[in-house]
Amino acid sequence: MRKPMIAGNWKMYKTPRESLAFLDAFFPLVEGHTRDEILVLPTMSSLAFVVEATEGTNVRAGAQNMHWLNEGPYTGQTSPTMLVSIGCRHVMLGHSEQRLYFSESYERVNLKIKAAVNHGITPIVCVGELLAEREDGKTEEVLRSQVQAALRNISPSEARRLVIAYEPIWAIGTGSTASPEIAAEAHRLIRAEVSRCCNQTTAENTRILYGGSVKPENISSLMVQQEIDGVLVGGSSLVPTSFAEIVHYESVGNPDVHERSA
Ligand code: PGA
Repeated sequence: MRKPMIAGNWKMYKTPRESLAFLDAFFPLVEGHTRDEILVLPTMSSLAFVVEATEGTNVRAGAQNMHWLNEGPYTGQTSPTMLVSIGCRHVMLGHSEQRLYFSESYERVNLKIKAAVNHGITPIVCVGELLAEREDGKTEEVLRSQVQAALRNISPSEARRLVIAYEPIWAIGTGSTASPEIAAEAHRLIRAEVSRCCNQTTAENTRILYGGSVKPENISSLMVQQEIDGVLVGGSSLVPTSFAEIVHYESVGNPDVHERSA
């Protein structure tokens, strides 16, 4: 059973005041919606406010990154215990902007996954190939090695909460989404690799989200694919009405959206 997750990655947008104004407008638009898990990922300066504002609602708030240690001389970092202390139970790890601009590596992502699950935090781990890698026919190799490095020595019980986001870098913020078929093919590949690294049950239970130029206009065609267990949305998650439209995608052709299994 893989309950779909619709996650909004707010990147470096929105002050605390703007984040709370978003929620004021967004809550009534998704009130009572339980088909999907709804998550927003605000900046660190807004996170505690957003966690507090979402308490008792059907919306959850997560961090965009974290360190793997609990404390120490690591300027600019936030630890898993700090996230837990404010009631935050989700963290995105290895986003391509972290990898491209801040030298994030899957070796570190691996340490962060371990730390997250040990603290009861759900990790959303991003993987995805560059355009040049796709054009060179290296997509499979790249995705496999990213999943392998991220899941090194992660036991099936540690991978219990794992969520993976397939975000082809060429589709992020470019307006050109991967076709549902391309995305589903990549998801199958990722799931097969999770099965090899952990086991088949873990692979069947792992939610794999698609990310990269998801919009109200293309969400339903993506969610028709059995392999796509939700989406990670950047630009279109910044406006309450467009993010709500995404949350309310049509599950036509996929009535068993609650009962996905590989
Ligand atoms: P986008 O971003 O929806 O603006 O393409 C997705 C992401 O970076 O997570």
